[in-house]
Amino acid sequence: METAKDTVAVLPAGDDDTPTLSSHALEALKEFLAEQSRAVEEASSAAAEDDVALVSEDWRLSQFWYNRETAETVANEVLNLCRSIDSPAIACIACPTLYAYLKKIDPNAPAQILEYDKRFEQYGSEFTFYDYNLPEDLPSSMKHSYPIIVADPPYLSQECLEKVAKTISFLTKPGQAYLLLLTGEVQSGRASELLGLRPCSFRPDHSSKLGNEFRLFTNYDPGTRLGGWEQVCMYSGFALSYSFLSMGKPSEKRLLTPLNYSCICNCHAQFVAQFSYIQIKKKITRDEIVLGKVVIPFFETFEYILRYWTLDTAQSLEDGYGVLVDMWDVTEENAPKKYAGESVCLRKLYNDDVSLICIELFNDRGFGDGDEIGLYWDPRSSCLMFKLLSEIRA
Ligand SMILES: C[S@@+](CC[C@H](N)C(=O)[O-])C[C@H]1O[C@@H](n2cnc3c(N)ncnc32)[C@H](O)[C@@H]1O
Repeated sequence: METAKDTVAVLPAGDDDTPTLSSHALEALKEFLAEQSRAVEEASSAAAEDDVALVSEDWRLSQFWYNRETAETVANEVLNLCRSIDSPAIACIACPTLYAYLKKIDPNAPAQILEYDKRFEQYGSEFTFYDYNLPEDLPSSMKHSYPIIVADPPYLSQECLEKVAKTISFLTKPGQAYLLLLTGEVQSGRASELLGLRPCSFRPDHSSKLGNEFRLFTNYDPGTRLGGWEQVCMYSGFALSYSFLSMGKPSEKRLLTPLNYSCICNCHAQFVAQFSYIQIKKKITRDEIVLGKVVIPFFETFEYILRYWTLDTAQSLEDGYGVLVDMWDVTEENAPKKYAGESVCLRKLYNDDVSLICIELFNDRGFGDGDEIGLYWDPRSSCLMFKLLSEIRA
């Protein structure tokens, strides 16, 4: 994140050996000092108004604090999510303002702040030192422990987001996890590829004006909150994933006509409206129980699973090879079970649908004809997630 402040430079010493600053650098330095003293004044007047008092921004650490409306909106959304789950725990990665507002609105909010700036040690045991360059260098007690994660990475680079994504994967509790990412619009593509996130209409804003457009991305459908998910990206995401997959053998290429494209879009919109995180939902049939495999329709496999794979892996499936994946059964949220090694395999069928073969899961679950199951691909852990939604019992 670059601002005019980054242009400050000390020039080489002149003839008289006295270090001098260029007039441009001097102006920038004056501006910086004036901003620092403004921040201190604002912090004290904010305290007087019973607002949240923050430490001053340090631009060398890429610190840009949210304004009050943004901090309160995101904090209220997170507290809302907390109320919807059994054992909430919030990880605030590099977003100290959010942490401060969460605590102001609800002093008992179960939040942990992960920050590089040690001034936030003032929050005691709820502070954890975090450097994104060492994404998994965190206490083991934090591993897979957070169902709610909010992150605002310090830089708008691919490298930074990839490392923060590793941290998110480390922290995420298996099962349904809510992820909110606040970052520049330029990261939209990467946020979708790396973490399966989509932008909301709500636009985060900062106390200091920034040149970059900021966005809030979520991995769950916020409904009417946060201005809702923006609809347009969903369709272009599909078009992209479809076109990369139709690069297979020329004889097997399929054409996406305007008619079936709009039909697919409508169908997708219905899925998104109905389920916030379980994207593939179906009833198990007697044949599937006998064979120990679930058939996933062509469209849903492509849209909800293959779009997160590398082109090579998706191509192998397209070419008829079996692809082994890891799968979590998250039916019991507090005791998820992992099926790994060679026990879960996806393979394309003659009609382009895909079968998910997992005999061990069938044995463990003892499915009945008509039981309803849900599946989704979790891009953070690169695992398939399975959930038994309802059972038909005689
Ligand atoms: C863009 S700011 C996000 C702050 C957010 N807008 C707020 O108001 O809370 C980035 C944050 O990353 C932190 N940061 C800077 N360097 C870091 C590093 N190497 N590792 C992790 N976090 C870092 C900064 O201290 C800052 O709080």
